[in-house]
Amino acid sequence: MTKVRYAVVGGGQISQQAFMPGIGKTDNSQLAALVTGDPVKAEKLAAAYGIKAWHYDQYEDLLASGEIDAVYVATPNFLHRQYAEPALQAGIHVLLEKPMASSLEDAQAIVAAQKASGAKMMVAYRLHHEPGNVEMFTRARQGDFGLLRSFSASFTQDVREANSRGHNGYWGGPVPDMGTYPLNAVRNLFGAEPIAVHAVGSSDPARGFNFDDTVAVTLTFPDQRVAQFVASYATASSENFTLVGTKATIHASPCFMFGPDIAVTYVETRDGNAETHRFDPVEQFGNETQYFSACILEDLTPEADGEEGLMDMRVLAAVEESLKTGKTVLLDPADRDRRVSADQALHLPPADEPGEDALISVIPQSP
Ligand SMILES: NC(=O)c1ccc[n+]([C@@H]2O[C@H](COP(=O)([O-])OP(=O)(O)OC[C@H]3O[C@@H](n4cnc5c(N)ncnc54)[C@H](OP(=O)(O)O)[C@@H]3O)[C@@H](O)[C@H]2O)c1
Repeated sequence: MTKVRYAVVGGGQISQQAFMPGIGKTDNSQLAALVTGDPVKAEKLAAAYGIKAWHYDQYEDLLASGEIDAVYVATPNFLHRQYAEPALQAGIHVLLEKPMASSLEDAQAIVAAQKASGAKMMVAYRLHHEPGNVEMFTRARQGDFGLLRSFSASFTQDVREANSRGHNGYWGGPVPDMGTYPLNAVRNLFGAEPIAVHAVGSSDPARGFNFDDTVAVTLTFPDQRVAQFVASYATASSENFTLVGTKATIHASPCFMFGPDIAVTYVETRDGNAETHRFDPVEQFGNETQYFSACILEDLTPEADGEEGLMDMRVLAAVEESLKTGKTVLLDPADRDRRVSADQALHLPPADEPGEDALISVIPQSP
């Protein structure tokens, strides 16, 4: 095998706009199939990419067909387990969109299936291969900014209620969807796992979400470190974080989004001097796929494995509990023996992204 053959499961916005164009930039991965419930997508998307379309009812047949090696699961979060678990049980590798699932129990079941079969599974944390984020993670952990004391971030958008993430409760909402980015960033900047979680939320009565549309999360980490982030579906777009150490501060923006024009940038301020670090846009979906396929082809464990996903999931579950109870939720002390490393940065050039008007049967996330 020289190229890993992927089936895309769910032909929604992220598949059409980012993954399907992006995989064409890799040299070790190819699109082989689409799994969709939409006959128009089955015809048009499959024809556009020269691949075969399968219905969800035929999923087991696809897994056993010998025509694919891996699936990219890009359904709404509440369906991740339904498509990841049987694939792993069938020995098919899984690139799983974030967040891993819509409950801790589902995420644990996915990890158990992965461990039982030995097929590879990676959570699609595209920023683990984006050069700017990788540089910030590795510099922070090697002490370039001194002892790290605080992190604060905002990641917000104006999301349509009619989009799949707009009406499926907490696990489709802003914390699992967008908050996962600052959460995953701070865990990888600090190189540590939080020990306490507190969250407060609010809802704009003029909007129709069935969950808190704006949530502020506070995390306590070991060694006197604190973090906060806000995630929202009901504001203008924002994406930034500030990391404060005892020697320097970095302010990053943009830092979480993807696209052909997204040049991740951070300003490092030390002793009153500010230095700007700007990174060329890269093909973030192609990069993560290139990396995952290399792990499959070379029989390596991906860094963003099930344990990495679970470390975020347990915090997302604690945020849900804190929103319900109004109380601080304590987490068992935990650690990871693996973190994002400098050699994970990849530099594939951005693919052309189809505009929203070119997407087939998609209710775009934002107006
Ligand atoms: N990494 C990133 O930057 C990034 C960005 C955005 C989203 N995501 C993740 O990717 C996943 C998909 O997000 P998206 O924005 O592409 O969502 P979306 O546009 O709503 O697409 C989801 C697709 O899943 C399929 N589907 C199957 N059963 C469904 C059901 N009961 N209800 C709705 N859709 C169903 C549909 O495809 P068919 O019509 O083909 O069946 C639908 O188009 C989510 O887990 C999200 O968190 C990641």
